[in-house]
Amino acid sequence: MTNATISLGAELQRYLAEHSLREAPVLARLRQVTAALPQANMQIAPEQGQFMQLLVRLMGAKRCLEVGTFTGYSALAVALVLPGDGELVACDVSVEWTTIAREYWREAGVDARIDLRLAPALATLDDLLASVVARVSTSPSSMPTRRTMSRTTSAWSSCCARAGCSRSTTCCGMAMSPTPPSTTATRTPSAR
Ligand SMILES: C[S@@+](CC[C@H](N)C(=O)[O-])C[C@H]1O[C@@H](n2cnc3c(N)ncnc32)[C@H](O)[C@@H]1O
Repeated sequence: MTNATISLGAELQRYLAEHSLREAPVLARLRQVTAALPQANMQIAPEQGQFMQLLVRLMGAKRCLEVGTFTGYSALAVALVLPGDGELVACDVSVEWTTIAREYWREAGVDARIDLRLAPALATLDDLLASVVARVSTSPSSMPTRRTMSRTTSAWSSCCARAGCSRSTTCCGMAMSPTPPSTTATRTPSAR
C-alpha cells in the first residue's frame, strides 16, 4: 500500500481529493497523525478508503476481515459504514501502531465493531477457521477453506515489501462478506 494511489499522477490525485473525497473528520485526523510516522507510506490513500466504504455499502457487507491494520485507517473507514450488527476482524502484530488505531476507533465510536487480533495473521485465520469448524456442523459444504482464505491474503502479500514494512509475510488485505456473523466464524477471545 501507499498513501497515494500508485497509478494516479499528482494532478489527477489532487483533482480526485478536491472533488470527490468525502472523508470523515476523524479519518482526516488519523491520517494527519500517521503522516508524522516514518512508515506513513504504508497507510492506504483516502480515496482507497472511500472506495472500500462504497464496496461495503454496495455488498451490504456485515463481516469484514483485514490483514494488516497499521494505525487503523482502512479499518476505521470500513467500520464507519458497517451496519450496527457488522463486525471487522483486524489482524496485526504491532502493539505500537494498533494503539494509535484503537484511540481513533474509540473516538469515532466504532471500537465495539472492530475485533483486533494481535497475532500473526495466519494464526488468526486458523483460529477463525477452527471456530467455524466448531460451530457449523450441519452444513460443512458452506465452510470456507484455509486455501480460500490464504488466497485472499497472499494476493496482497507483496505490497508491504514495496512500502518497506520489514514484518511483511502476509499482510494488507480486506475481505468482505454480506453473510451475517452468526453463520460464519464466531468471535474468539481476542487481544482487545
Ligand atoms: C501496509 S500496513 C497496513 C495498512 C493499513 N491497512 C492502513 O490502512 O493504514 C501493513 C501492516 O501489516 C502488519 N503485518 C505485517 N506482517 C503481518 C503478519 N504476518 N500478521 C499480521 N499483521 C502483519 C504490519 O504490522 C503493518 O501494520
